[in-house]
Amino acid sequence: MVVIRTDDEPFVPPPYPYDRLNQLREMAASLPGGMIDLSIGAPCDAPPAEALRVLGEGEGLRTYPPSIGSPALLDATRGWLDRRFGIAIGEDEVGACLGLKEMVVGLPHWLRLREPDRDTVLYPAVSYPSYAMGARLAGCRSVPVAMDDQWRMDLSSIDDDDADSALCIWVNTPGNPAGALDDLAAVAAWGRERNIPVLSDECYIEFTWDGEPRSILRSGVEGVLALHSLSKRSNLAGLRVGSYSGDPDLVHYLREIRKHTGAMIPGPNQAAAVAALNDDAHVDAQKEIYRERINLVGSALRVLGANVDSPGGGFYLWVEANDGDAWDFADFLARRGGAVVSPGEFYGDQGHDHVRIALVQPTDRLKEMAVRLGA
Ligand SMILES: Cc1ncc(COP(=O)(O)O)c(C=O)c1O
Repeated sequence: MVVIRTDDEPFVPPPYPYDRLNQLREMAASLPGGMIDLSIGAPCDAPPAEALRVLGEGEGLRTYPPSIGSPALLDATRGWLDRRFGIAIGEDEVGACLGLKEMVVGLPHWLRLREPDRDTVLYPAVSYPSYAMGARLAGCRSVPVAMDDQWRMDLSSIDDDDADSALCIWVNTPGNPAGALDDLAAVAAWGRERNIPVLSDECYIEFTWDGEPRSILRSGVEGVLALHSLSKRSNLAGLRVGSYSGDPDLVHYLREIRKHTGAMIPGPNQAAAVAALNDDAHVDAQKEIYRERINLVGSALRVLGANVDSPGGGFYLWVEANDGDAWDFADFLARRGGAVVSPGEFYGDQGHDHVRIALVQPTDRLKEMAVRLGA
């Protein structure tokens, strides 16, 4: 098992993964009609109009915004959880954050301040790279948990020593990059048995294709935090609004520590987020757009002979490279289709023979890609 540990060596930031795609970008851009960028999962579709109108009003610009989130934002978050998923949480069980990335990266540091004797962050071996980076930046050990043959975390593979020193365990459902759905009740039970906080990144929760949306909060708040974001739900990645909900002791600690760090969502963004959270129609419409894109690109790749499983959730296709070489496959898609995709190694060694295709370009562009590829 690969264990990354930060020693006393000076920390040198590694190359940003997506910068490694510049050559593929140039190649794709040279095609008539230009590049179709399916690498970073940044939404391209319209955010809800009401959120933009409220944003323009500039509410709360003069004063410092509440770090924990305005009462209106926290209420809207609780209302959204209740309305969409039937999950009722208390007022002291939720806080707001600047989107999820800063929270994902900051959590190991803050949890370690709370429990200095533990230094291990467990995270899915094929996953969003910021789980491991947050551990590194906190001087923790980052220990990947192996994935099973359906790209879910295999909890039985976790070493007892790693569990004994674990500060937290991450789970991400629907998962980026593979779109898999974990058994969140089982992960919550695993954490509770060992007194290890379970951090459940649920930023794709509303784009669940197989069955009901899953949240760790369905099995209660004790020992767990669920993380949600408006970036994907409402195409508002630029607004930087997310939330954490769950165990009141953990939420209290994080609310207090974050006040001292100066983490504050700008006031106008908090107001706009309330408008976005109170509306579901734009999310339901967006779901249909992603569903169509998944079917379109999945079928096109199958025509070319690729083995493409439909994701259980999320807006990525996780595709095995025909000859097992993900960089070659990415090169082919850029050269022939003008599409830039991410080699699976960006998400962990176990993903080395796959590519991730983010369906974040307009559907017409994806049709053009299919035509270019002869599919
Ligand atoms: C699994 C996962 N978690 C968190 C994030 C970050 O989301 P945010 O825009 O809320 O920072 C992403 C973004 O791609 C993601 O894929």
